[in-house]
Amino acid sequence: MKGEDRIETKINLVALSGSIRKQSSTQKVLRCLENFMPENVDYEIYNVIENLPHFNPELDGDQPPEEVQVYRELLSGADGVIICTPEYIKGVPSVLKNALEWLVSSAELYTKPVAVITASGNGENAHQSLQINLSMLYANVFEGGALLISGADSKLNEDGEFVKNEVNTSLKLLISKLIEEINKKESY
Ligand SMILES: Cc1cc2nc3c(=O)[nH]c(=O)nc-3n(C[C@H](O)[C@H](O)[C@H](O)COP(=O)(O)O)c2cc1C
Repeated sequence: MKGEDRIETKINLVALSGSIRKQSSTQKVLRCLENFMPENVDYEIYNVIENLPHFNPELDGDQPPEEVQVYRELLSGADGVIICTPEYIKGVPSVLKNALEWLVSSAELYTKPVAVITASGNGENAHQSLQINLSMLYANVFEGGALLISGADSKLNEDGEFVKNEVNTSLKLLISKLIEEINKKESY
């Protein structure tokens, strides 16, 4: 498929959140990304990450738990993935790490374009650590595909929007780079 045709091709994006807190800034970030999605993008936030059982290789046989099957199918159908996370005790929150461990054997993220946003107090350690985790899954965290938003909470207003234009510009750029990466892959 070439240039103009590709622009209209439907793109499926799935987002994962590293926080399950109801008023979470991470989830606000994921919701505010909806404003930056082109019309041809179907964007779904997987918001039942806490229902995945603790990863156990013994459960990961021919018939893994149903929640895991649904989660894997969702990611399998995604052209690209967005992960937004806070930092907990200098690393990736266990709920997100657990969700990633379930993808080791099934490889849904293998070569898949993945955009990473760390929205935290500081967040540098989780940002780095998550990218190391994703490299073990052979996910494609492309150039310009990782954004660290330190002090995220104080930058969001009551409507869950970033008050600073520079953050919105960075988020918009991240989404456009993700879509560019997906289109690049489709055209191979
Ligand atoms: C248990 C716990 C540990 C935390 N550890 C860190 C940390 O190591 N580094 C950091 O930058 N922020 C840390 N924070 C702050 C959170 O990352 C910050 O409050 C973030 O905005 C929470 O994300 P959420 O609003 O999406 O739930 C921690 C918060 C909690 C509750």
